[in-house]
Amino acid sequence: MTMTPLGIPRRLLECTVDGEPVRAPEGATVLDACRSAGKDIPTLCQGDTLRPKNACRVCMVEVEGARTLVPACSREVEPGMEVRTDTERARHSRRLVLELLASSVDLSTTPRAAEWIEDYGAEPDRFGPDAARLGEEPRIDNELYVRDYDKCILCYKCVDACGDQWQNSFAISVVGRGFDARIAVEHDGPLTDSACVYCGNCIEVCPTGALSFKSEFDMRAAGTWDESQQTETTTVCAYCGVGCNLTLHVQDNEIVKVTSPHDNPVTHGNLCIKGRFGYQHVQNRD
Ligand code: SF4
Ligand code: SF4
Ligand code: FES
Repeated sequence: MTMTPLGIPRRLLECTVDGEPVRAPEGATVLDACRSAGKDIPTLCQGDTLRPKNACRVCMVEVEGARTLVPACSREVEPGMEVRTDTERARHSRRLVLELLASSVDLSTTPRAAEWIEDYGAEPDRFGPDAARLGEEPRIDNELYVRDYDKCILCYKCVDACGDQWQNSFAISVVGRGFDARIAVEHDGPLTDSACVYCGNCIEVCPTGALSFKSEFDMRAAGTWDESQQTETTTVCAYCGVGCNLTLHVQDNEIVKVTSPHDNPVTHGNLCIKGRFGYQHVQNRD
């Protein structure tokens, strides 16, 4: 069972979201307030276990009195703030961001991207075929995970998870500038020659499937990956005394990947290589 510790009580601030009064705890973001009011705002670079990066700009909303649109995922709620989530200006901004992303990146495995593109009337094709950026094959250089940078939106979440926000391995970073910018390990070499410790915590936060478990990648390629047929069972890792919660994703009686609950106070969604990938022995019938 996941236990969430009670935090320090915080003052409630009053604001409005689309004209409706909302009370949000001090320090909450505009996105938190909007979600508590039932508003469905697209997000990509925002992560519930990471500090806001403000990289994708798909969550922009209008705030009364502000000259520019504000990113809902990082702007904190202020008393008396009047937030509008669905104005033509905000919709226009989200539409353009989606068009720019979808015209240069493969969003086929980004959850809800197709739905948002339709909802906002985005037309990625209007930028023409030359907008495509990398056009490179997925990098498969180890048995644990795959990097498909054609799907990378440069949101920095993997860099932050690998760096000082969680893993402190600093194995990946952004190299290059402009259209040449990309996520890479040192010297842009194979993962096996890098400082990567194969914790998989970057995969956990990647919003597009640019980083994926090899098991999932292989099953998608074979057409057998089916989340509707998967069950999730949360248990405790027995490899050491830390006691991380593991969520086993099982399809056809086989574990197909392992995650950890983001609200778990021990892991915050992170694991080490043993908890993340040490499950193969469970289904070794030999
Ligand atoms: S690999 Fe994934 S998490 Fe990393 S920057 Fe690209 S989209 Fe973001
Ligand atoms: S995931 Fe790693 S750190 Fe956590 S309990 Fe298992 S072996 Fe220990
Ligand atoms: S989700 Fe807010 S800037 Fe990316």
